[in-house]
Amino acid sequence: MKKNVAIAIDGPSGAGKSTLARRCAACFGLIYVDTGAIYRTVGLAAYRRRVDRKDEAAVSRLLPELKIRMDYDEKGEQRMVLDGEDVSAAIREPEISLCASDVSALPAVRAFLLDMQRKMAREHSVIMDGRDIGTVVLPRAELKIFLTASPQARAHRRMLELQAKGHQVSYDQVLQDIQYRDAQDSGRSAAPLKAAEDAVHVDTSELNFEESFQLLRDLIHKRLGLEEKA
Ligand code: DC
Repeated sequence: MKKNVAIAIDGPSGAGKSTLARRCAACFGLIYVDTGAIYRTVGLAAYRRRVDRKDEAAVSRLLPELKIRMDYDEKGEQRMVLDGEDVSAAIREPEISLCASDVSALPAVRAFLLDMQRKMAREHSVIMDGRDIGTVVLPRAELKIFLTASPQARAHRRMLELQAKGHQVSYDQVLQDIQYRDAQDSGRSAAPLKAAEDAVHVDTSELNFEESFQLLRDLIHKRLGLEEKA
């Protein structure tokens, strides 16, 4: 049986992980797993049920009640389903980003979601992005990439992305949210955002999307010998 391959991409919000991982997945015929979307789904559930997102006991009581499923549509896009409802759009609201960051700091939430993520990598060849994929979820991934960019570059990209979706946001507000999440995601004691020792560091501050993609594509090709499918 052919062995599944795993590529881990970690890094702070807005470094371009998801767009790049999606494109690399299409290029090499891998399944893209967006683990942030899973944390966002728990964040949304806590928000909707008005549970205090920093109260571990309260959030823990909520977890067994949640029916979270990850599906892939006909285009191969990951969809998040919460209690039977497709919440893939709802979890992208800026407010839910902060909820996701809050709940993701809780060890109970991380433990609850660990198996769902590992199962995907057992069953498929994946490119998985998040904060602790190379360090905790898939420490034996064949390739680990730590993708970063300056907070200013990330805030600028995120602002354009949100504005394109019709959100009225200022650069300062987006930068402030990014700094809040950076501090919380890196400063928490449970699986903080940090590069695995054997991760390849890639800084995209000065690169556009196409340049960043070419860099990752060459890296995957050279390190894993995968052939391009598209
Ligand atoms: O990648 P994202 O912005 O969609 O992630 C939302 C939040 O979830 C982010 O603030 C950090 C958290 N997260 C995490 O702690 N571990 C992961 N593997 C993925 C996301």
